[in-house]
Amino acid sequence: MTDGQRAWLTTRYDDAILALKDNERITKNLQSLSPEDYASVIPEKEMALISKQMLSSDPPDHTRLRAIVSKAFTPQMIDRMESDIQRIAEDLIDRIEQTGKLEAIEDFAFPLPITVISRMLGIPDDDYVLFKRWSSDFIEAANNREKLKTAFPSLQAFRLYLEELIDARRKTPGDDLISLLIQAHDDQDRLSGDELVSTIWLLIVAGHETTVNLIGNGLLALLENPDQLRLWRQDPSLTATAVEELLRYYSPVEIATSRWASRDFEWHGKDVRKGDLILVGLGAANRDPAQFDDPGRLDLSRKKNKHIAFGNGIHFCLGAPLARIEGRIALTALLRRLPNLRISPSFTGLEWRPGILMRGLRELPIELR
Ligand code: HEM
Repeated sequence: MTDGQRAWLTTRYDDAILALKDNERITKNLQSLSPEDYASVIPEKEMALISKQMLSSDPPDHTRLRAIVSKAFTPQMIDRMESDIQRIAEDLIDRIEQTGKLEAIEDFAFPLPITVISRMLGIPDDDYVLFKRWSSDFIEAANNREKLKTAFPSLQAFRLYLEELIDARRKTPGDDLISLLIQAHDDQDRLSGDELVSTIWLLIVAGHETTVNLIGNGLLALLENPDQLRLWRQDPSLTATAVEELLRYYSPVEIATSRWASRDFEWHGKDVRKGDLILVGLGAANRDPAQFDDPGRLDLSRKKNKHIAFGNGIHFCLGAPLARIEGRIALTALLRRLPNLRISPSFTGLEWRPGILMRGLRELPIELR
């Protein structure tokens, strides 16, 4: 790495699975190794904001934090959201039809998941304009200490916003996820104040940054492969395998979030040292020819598809069932209602957002007719 940090990147499918499942030699909790490591870059409160949640924890904290949130992510809760998600998608497409213009990321792929997660949490719909930038600044800086310095004001603003939101919800609780988490803190003492704020932060960031990419990248893959797009339109029974294939083909999370070696060990004849950064290449694993036939080909009817776009092991994505429903509804609604979609012929600037964590487009201008 440019800052002198020793780092390893897995590129094979089998190695990715090994790294994701290895809780003995690999940790998610940087502070357990070197508490001072990020202290010079991020002040304590902002460090707590980004780290006191399940994705940056090892058992037993991980087990406890995940169990609390899992209570809300029941199949029943997600089923209840399905009609809401459909409504949100149809409303966005109504607006697109009225204006006759579609910038697929800004007008559709982004607002859909952010509205869904905001409603689940009980955040007012319009507030997302506030935290869009804060979230994006962090994602683009992840794994880069220098860039994290520039993201610090955004983290601070995000933390203050969440603290005010929690105070307001404490006064007037609802049947939303934030109220449920406040209850777990206030009444049952099952999560600390820092963990409460950090868990809500994780749900907002993980709940939309990823799904935007499933919808945006999925649409791009379809428009780049018109034969597959035609096939799906002709045969709606392909939907289940199609969404999985789109998750594999342009995996929304390119690299699983950071892990560190918690002790020295040998791997494929190389010396991994305690404190080394371990990056798990999900995108690479999902194109490994040893695991997938003809991995560079988009095949919406692919049956043998054990992709790891949602990770693996104890940190397997908690929101996967929700994300799958969002992806299915978003893409099928677009294809049904806008039959002549194509990438704007004048558009030549296809660009992925910076940062190694995610694979997502900056913009995708579309012609409707
Ligand atoms: C297409 C959309 C999504 C993709 C590709 C995705 C991918 C992932 C991946 C790869 C991980 C594991 C990261 C690691 O091991 O370092 C993860 C964890 C997680 N995801 Fe997602 N995610 C998506 C949508 C969502 C949604 C909608 C939510 C809902 C709030 C969500 C919540 C979480 C949470 C809470 C974790 C942490 C789980 C744990 O540490 O036990 N994700 N996700």
